[in-house]
Amino acid sequence: MLGNFSYHNPTKLYFGDEALSFLNEELPKYGKTVQLIYGGGSVKRSGLYDEIVAILKSNGKTIVEDAGVMPNPTVEKLREGVRIARENHVDFLLAVGGGSCCDYAKAVSVSVHCDDDPWDKYYIRFEEPDCEIVPVGCVLTMAGTGSEMNGGAVITNHEQKLKIGHVFGDDVMPKFSILNPKYTMTLPKRQMVAGIYDIFNHICEQYFSGEDDNTSDYIAEALMKSVVHSSLIAVDNPEDYEARSNIMWTATWALNTLISRGKSTDWMVHMIGQSVGAYTDATHGMTLAAVSLPYYRMILPYGLAKFKRFATEVWGVSAEGKTDEQIATEGLEALEGWMKQIGVALSISELGATEDMLDGIADGTIILGGGYKTLTRDEVIQVLKESL
Ligand code: NZQ
Ligand code: ZN
Repeated sequence: MLGNFSYHNPTKLYFGDEALSFLNEELPKYGKTVQLIYGGGSVKRSGLYDEIVAILKSNGKTIVEDAGVMPNPTVEKLREGVRIARENHVDFLLAVGGGSCCDYAKAVSVSVHCDDDPWDKYYIRFEEPDCEIVPVGCVLTMAGTGSEMNGGAVITNHEQKLKIGHVFGDDVMPKFSILNPKYTMTLPKRQMVAGIYDIFNHICEQYFSGEDDNTSDYIAEALMKSVVHSSLIAVDNPEDYEARSNIMWTATWALNTLISRGKSTDWMVHMIGQSVGAYTDATHGMTLAAVSLPYYRMILPYGLAKFKRFATEVWGVSAEGKTDEQIATEGLEALEGWMKQIGVALSISELGATEDMLDGIADGTIILGGGYKTLTRDEVIQVLKESL
């Protein structure tokens, strides 16, 4: 375990099928006016919206509606949310939905009391908030992003064809998150598996870096095994509460900063996937799935020891009589087999990407250097071509 780091996570979690009742404990800690943030209607159809409104009212809160947060929330919607918060002097932001609602709430929280345009300040200049931050709470309905216990807030600018994430600090992380696995059961299967792949890839992005003996990698392997195990049960029977709760819990731990301790981390699948998302508006987890295998095959020779370990520890590949390359390659084959089994996208064309977009997607890809190989722009193009 190398490196110097601190570890602190301020988000309080309430987990389980009775978790919503703890909203009554949390709400009195915050001001009277609550901006109720939700998406395109799933929370109304499930009845969760009515339950939450009843709890807010019984706690004497004034509710300010902020509906219609779309998957991959846009900068225009962010500006609208900021306007709603300002006009109503909002004290608290309650996001009810998936990662998009939680991310959006965080982006609003750092922008309400800030004069600058949020896109330019946080997503182009990558500045940190220097204004009052409105507190955020989340009631999660989709497992995948980990947004419920991290500072990430990803916003899409369709005009500029950019999808960019800003990872904010402790002050912006949700004050609390309510995780009831039952809420995830109304998810369409495609969203469920996209979320599952998102979880798995978050773990990979942190695992595939570094060469030291690091406790984070052992935790990562256990989380990966749990996701794979539960995913197969949930794909077969989406109503399986135990599997859905394990998936929800691993999603949180996959990206709540714990397993990145002591790691340089890679994140290139996300960088390429996000740029694909900026062009196609495709479901986040699917964009990751579609570019993963070509990317990992490209970097495998540079991180051979870790890819070999991934094969034997996560997928149970037998090492006997095989070269390291063979073992590592079998690990990626096992990953591919699992991806096919759960039914994620394996090409960017099925997400709407076309050859003429590839240059733009490569230009919009932020190249990071924490993994086993720092890609050149040509290599990004190569990954994209192999993902078509
Ligand atoms: O809008 P509604 O009607 O609620 O429908 C949503 C949406 O269409 C639906 N849904 C959610 N919960 C449901 C449900 N439908 C039925 N029953 C339920 N219980 O699912 C669709 C997708 O929801 P969304 O919130 O967009 O999905 P997800 O949780 O995958 O969030 C994606 C966003 O998070 C960002 C992504 O880039 C993307 O913008 N990410 C955030 C991260 C972070 N904060 O750290 C990291 C991730 O890597 C990711 O980039
Ligand atoms: Zn992700």
